[in-house]
Amino acid sequence: MTESKLYIEGGKRLAGEVFVHGAKNSVLPVLAATLLSGGVCRIENCPELSDVYSSTRILRSLGCKCRREGSAVEVDARTLSGCEISEDLMREMRSSIVFLGAILGRLRRCRLSFPGGCELGPRPIDIHLSGLRKLGAKITEAHGVLDCSMPSAVTGASMTLPLPSVGATENIMLAAVLGSGETVIRNAAREPEISDLAGFLNACGAKISGQGSATVVINGVESLHGATYSIMPDRIVAATYMGAAAITNGEVMLRGVRPADMHSTVSAFEQAGAGVYPYSDRIYLSAKKPLRAIKTLRTAPYPGFPTDCQPIVMAVLTKARGTSMIVENIFENRFRAAPELRRLGADIKAEGRVAVIEGVPRLSGAATVASDLRAGAALVLGGLAAEGVTTVSNLHYIDRGYEALESSLRALGARIRRI
Ligand code: EPZ
Repeated sequence: MTESKLYIEGGKRLAGEVFVHGAKNSVLPVLAATLLSGGVCRIENCPELSDVYSSTRILRSLGCKCRREGSAVEVDARTLSGCEISEDLMREMRSSIVFLGAILGRLRRCRLSFPGGCELGPRPIDIHLSGLRKLGAKITEAHGVLDCSMPSAVTGASMTLPLPSVGATENIMLAAVLGSGETVIRNAAREPEISDLAGFLNACGAKISGQGSATVVINGVESLHGATYSIMPDRIVAATYMGAAAITNGEVMLRGVRPADMHSTVSAFEQAGAGVYPYSDRIYLSAKKPLRAIKTLRTAPYPGFPTDCQPIVMAVLTKARGTSMIVENIFENRFRAAPELRRLGADIKAEGRVAVIEGVPRLSGAATVASDLRAGAALVLGGLAAEGVTTVSNLHYIDRGYEALESSLRALGARIRRI
């Protein structure tokens, strides 16, 4: 059965209101962290995404019970029995590497295959492994399998990450919460998802401080207990809907968002000429005037402009008057939306880590292929603005990170459906 695709009749201004679901990049480490609780956890505002489904399959394969109750997922980690994740489950989702720290933290032993590279580049895990080794882990890598064991209990360590890796910060936190002594992570990632993970762990009885700053401190505790926790809103999904309104010169009211997490993203849309009005748990964006080019937009670790928003803003800039330049400093292969956007009539030259975009007055519909999650989202935005029909295939990439994308866009007036 061939995979479905999105069918978009573009050229229509979007206007309306959309509720932004829970953050994929928070719920994935939090689901892994439920293993450490040894109890029953209720994760609320949990989005229905294929990556979330993959995580629950991993939890079940380890002996936990998982069930979804509407927008919540309940995990019973009391029956955790396995410490091994099969290769096909590891290949299903690269970010499953975050289970390593959680399984080590609870069972002191873990075997899993190297996570596959992904569309964005090799995705090394050297910083994860060196941090875990500083906590005392013995890790052998042979035939694509990681075989890890930890001494009876972590007694704390101090380390400085060579770069503020989100996943490495999360893995080290997960491996360090159970034990004694103090673990200090310097040059830690500062993303809001790190703070959300720390919030969940502290709700389970952990003693973590400094989350959101470059120095995270974990004081080991004897054990954790279950908790109920509500996942933060997805700031990248929020940016995607802002992009949909901006590229169609429309307007959107985002509900259920946390503007405080989105300063650099809000600033980028303002530089592009949109009016952006954040307040409490909402952001209103209006782009009734023609969009302006952004001379230079650089991606950086939080609180800099997020690499995940880069393909989305690239799409918006294809219709902004003038020449924009984007510098992608995080991943080496993250301009994969460019060739497909060119099929819609965009004028983009991408060379290494730099992309130059000449704004064009209009885009025209074409058949396009998604190559990764956020590049797929960028193509949807291009299709919403392009005159005529655009199709986007390889929807499995988009379904990893967007819950109910079509129905949310239809609520904004888009003519879009899955065929
Ligand atoms: C997380 O990936 C996100 N994924 C990514 O979102 C996001 O793009 C990225 O952080 C940066 O913000 C999840 O949270 C599940 P990193 P992660 O470790 O943890 C290099 C999306 O679209 N690096 O901060 O893998 C790495 O190659 C996804 O939702 C090493 O060299 O990101 C990259 O160049 C895509 N060695 C840079 O650091 C390591 O051991 C940042 O990676 C680890 C990372």
